[in-house]
Amino acid sequence: MNKTDIPQKDIIDAFQFRHACKEFDSTKKLTDTDINFILKTAQLSPSSFGFEPWHFVVVQNKELRELLKPVAWGAPLKLDTASHFILGLTMKAPMTKWDSDYIMHMMKEVKQFPQEVIDMYSNFYKEFQERDFNLDTDKKLFDWASKQNYIALGNMMTAAALQGIDSCPIEGFHEEKAEQLLKDKFDIDTDKYGLSYMVAFGYRKEHPDHPKSRREIGELVTWKK
Ligand SMILES: Cc1cc2nc3c(=O)[nH]c(=O)nc-3n(C[C@H](O)[C@H](O)[C@H](O)COP(=O)(O)O)c2cc1C
Repeated sequence: MNKTDIPQKDIIDAFQFRHACKEFDSTKKLTDTDINFILKTAQLSPSSFGFEPWHFVVVQNKELRELLKPVAWGAPLKLDTASHFILGLTMKAPMTKWDSDYIMHMMKEVKQFPQEVIDMYSNFYKEFQERDFNLDTDKKLFDWASKQNYIALGNMMTAAALQGIDSCPIEGFHEEKAEQLLKDKFDIDTDKYGLSYMVAFGYRKEHPDHPKSRREIGELVTWKK
């Protein structure tokens, strides 16, 4: 594939355009092509060892969106107005531990590794989890997998912005209550999946009321020459 040639200025303009959109214009909807494009950028996102420890639930059902409101204080206005509303689920320990059925499925069926590569990879992955990263609790494993899911989140929001589509990432929810709801009403196996974030997509109702505020670049970057 050829390298893409988007001018840097256009990309920075998209980063400036992206903001945490508080309210969307509920009359404007993304096309199927738009939302599938955004989801494609999640699919193509990098993940540790390439094990893709994520799942995305696109919540378009109005009743289900209503149910989310009481457990997600950061989301009500977005749930009412966003064109598309996504739950970023991350795999838990039974899925991501080095010897799980899922990891085996990834190596065998998805990556189609030959057996000797599977053996080598398994051993390496085990050492990485147990020795290098000390992922010795379910919580640590989940948080580690979640970190990867946030890469997909960033990519989806940037891709959207490059297309003039607005977004808002949302962590304003009660983790335990939200997961109970996902189990009871969304048919999600919460032994296997946890909720890392929500993200809304649509078109802004109004322009942001304040300019972007960021620290100076010199404050956040250290060069060692
Ligand atoms: C992981 C994460 C969680 C966030 N959660 C919420 C949220 O629950 N509700 C909300 O309105 N904004 C949320 N934000 C938006 C941030 O407040 C916002 O990105 C930050 O203030 C910078 O502003 P900007 O995105 O408009 O440049 C979240 C952002 C991130 C990255």
